[in-house]
Amino acid sequence: MTIQFLGKTLKNPMVLASGVLGNSHDILERVHKNGCGLVTMKSIGPKPRDGHKNPTVIDLGCGMINAVGLPSPGYLNMENEWNDLEKRDFPIIASVYGGSVREYQMVAEFVSSKKPDFIEINISCPNSEKHGMIFGVNAQSSHDVVSAVKNVIKVPLIAKLSPQALDIGEIAMACEDAGADAICAINTLGPGMVIDIESKMPVLAFKKGGLSGPMIKPVAVRCVFDIYKAVKIPIIGLGGISNGKDAIEIIMAGASLVGIGSAVKYGGINVFQKVTDQMDTWLRDHDLSYEDIIGAAHRKG
Ligand SMILES: Cc1cc2nc3c(=O)[nH]c(=O)nc-3n(C[C@H](O)[C@H](O)[C@H](O)COP(=O)(O)O)c2cc1C
Repeated sequence: MTIQFLGKTLKNPMVLASGVLGNSHDILERVHKNGCGLVTMKSIGPKPRDGHKNPTVIDLGCGMINAVGLPSPGYLNMENEWNDLEKRDFPIIASVYGGSVREYQMVAEFVSSKKPDFIEINISCPNSEKHGMIFGVNAQSSHDVVSAVKNVIKVPLIAKLSPQALDIGEIAMACEDAGADAICAINTLGPGMVIDIESKMPVLAFKKGGLSGPMIKPVAVRCVFDIYKAVKIPIIGLGGISNGKDAIEIIMAGASLVGIGSAVKYGGINVFQKVTDQMDTWLRDHDLSYEDIIGAAHRKG
């Protein structure tokens, strides 16, 4: 199966989610060779940033809690990554974040000059300008950052949204109105907290963290469903996807592409081919095409 997405041909609808495998060219290339249609780089920030202290990621069985804290060398300190990016022969999304509209714009403009296939803005992370608020939970600030970035980049723009928004459809509409070419949803859910009752301490050094993996799938499906109702631009749906039936479910909610993050940690990089094969089998057994099922849950009942 090949897929058309914003003018690019992808070998399948699978997307590596941002952040779970870092930014090493060799790893991202291996993920693509092992069956992933489109890979996303880890979010790149305006300045060097260490991230939070360990432990930063804990497996909870039903998914993970993490407070990695957006570690980044800063976009001006990534010469190797930028050289590799220009030489690559597979499609890539570069993910960027900032602490203000101006920072998003600065990072995205620079990254655009390195010619990734797409730029994703992670507007689901806290920013300093508004005292820890998240750009993507407010329609006006989402609109501001999307339109500012759209003005300075030369590749299609994807806005990555947070499930914390009160009305994620409204946020998606603001992003579409400001010029976003696609929406990616969802980022991690939370913040949550897990306490070790023997030590009486939160398990994460940062105490609170975002949830991912199977436990957040129903929230991801609901968010994609609401976004599909609100906008015309395509959606990358992710959150707890780990097998073919999960992928079919989020496509029926309205996703055109399917992202996988935590399941890579659980199942290794072969998970992309496994999910694609399971989807293909299900579609063949039901005599349906991939296109038939996009948003199918909106057309019943
Ligand atoms: C350890 C870890 C690091 C992450 N880092 C980023 C990041 O840098 N940028 C981003 O947009 N999302 C980041 N995410 C969120 C994932 O891309 C994804 O949206 C989320 O985990 C839900 O998908 P999943 O349930 O398949 O993991 C991270 C998630 C995890 C678990």
